[in-house]
Amino acid sequence: MVASAAWSDTYAGLLRDETIQAFVRSAYSLERLASRITSNHLYVASGDGPVVAFADAQVLSDRIVLGAIYALPQLRGHGVGTALLKALLAALPPLPMTADVVVGNRKGEVFYERRGFVPRETLHADLFGEAVVERRWWRDPSEPRPDDDDRAAAWMNERTVPRI
Ligand SMILES: CC(C)(COP(=O)(O)OP(=O)(O)OC[C@H]1O[C@@H](n2cnc3c(N)ncnc32)[C@H](O)[C@@H]1OP(=O)(O)O)[C@@H](O)C(=O)NCCC(=O)NCCS
Repeated sequence: MVASAAWSDTYAGLLRDETIQAFVRSAYSLERLASRITSNHLYVASGDGPVVAFADAQVLSDRIVLGAIYALPQLRGHGVGTALLKALLAALPPLPMTADVVVGNRKGEVFYERRGFVPRETLHADLFGEAVVERRWWRDPSEPRPDDDDRAAAWMNERTVPRI
């Protein structure tokens, strides 16, 4: 539900509707979710009830791939993305972290800019028949961890659950 809502909101106007739907169906099928849970580091944040955001990372030998980080559109800007990033940084080895971001996705790029990532390579991908241009954003492990702000801390301490 979070992935579907977040993808529709984030990529409207950037990707074709059919591409968004095909991606969500494929990347968040039960089989793929099971694989993400068992093979990757999948963290979710929930309020008093349902999940409101999630992040998914994979540890390679030379870097950590932040494959996804999404929050419900109505809950953005309240610290939950930072809480998830902090949880991943605390749990995973001190390697560079990368995220591939569709060029023009300001809803993602601003977050990365604010949290110590810098854009480097341009990547050309094919997403269900649609040509997509992405930038690979890098975060050096020497970057200071995000500050302990109260909003992020609230999600961290009470609501961030590793590997559901
Ligand atoms: C990326 C995302 C998960 C971040 O989660 P979040 O809970 O909104 O982030 P936070 O509230 O912790 O904000 C972190 C910083 O980014 C800034 N920020 C986040 N989203 C922003 C936006 N849309 N516009 C402006 N600033 C934004 C915040 O101001 C904050 O900076 P500051 O505390 O230094 O002022 C969320 O915004 C999201 O789902 N975005 C769309 C999906 C997306 O593009 N994901 C990445 C795909 S590669």
